[in-house]
Amino acid sequence: MDLSLRSWLIAISTLACFSTMAIAADMSSSAISERIKPSGNIHLEGAEPVVAATTTPSRTGQAIYDQYCASCHNSGLMAAPKKGDADDWATRVSQGDAVLAEHAIKGFNAMPAKGTCMDCSDAEIVAAINYMIDPN
Ligand code: HEC
Repeated sequence: MDLSLRSWLIAISTLACFSTMAIAADMSSSAISERIKPSGNIHLEGAEPVVAATTTPSRTGQAIYDQYCASCHNSGLMAAPKKGDADDWATRVSQGDAVLAEHAIKGFNAMPAKGTCMDCSDAEIVAAINYMIDPN
């Protein structure tokens, strides 16, 4: 064994020795319990966190209209049929409720889908349509 190889081996084993000491130093009880704790948190069936209901409680047609539809349908912006204006609505109503509802829910030309009320249920949109056709 020549000299350079021997000193190299000594260097390696010295390093190994020091790193073992470093590991041994971290044997405090908190470090140990951190290391042996189970990985991941477990939810037992039936103990699931309560998830907020995805459907918001039903709001009135007027409440939806005032908040989301009025900006266009009060004044007839971009030729939107105006609230309570029988002439504006006559030909539209003649398409049938299903078509009106589908256009309002999916969008129709400049009419944005759901009138931008993305958390509105279909029933709330229909209530808003009924309100704007006949607010009284
Ligand atoms: C950004 C403006 C805008 C908003 C907000 C808006 N609308 Fe409209 N809406 C329009 C326009 C413009 C039209 C006419 C589209 C056309 O006939 O080309 C329209 C048409 C409609 C129609 C008639 C569709 C048909 O088949 O003739 C219904 C119903 C309707 N909107 C419902 C709603 C409801 C309900 C809301 C609120 C939840 C709403 N709109 C919000 C612009 C808007």
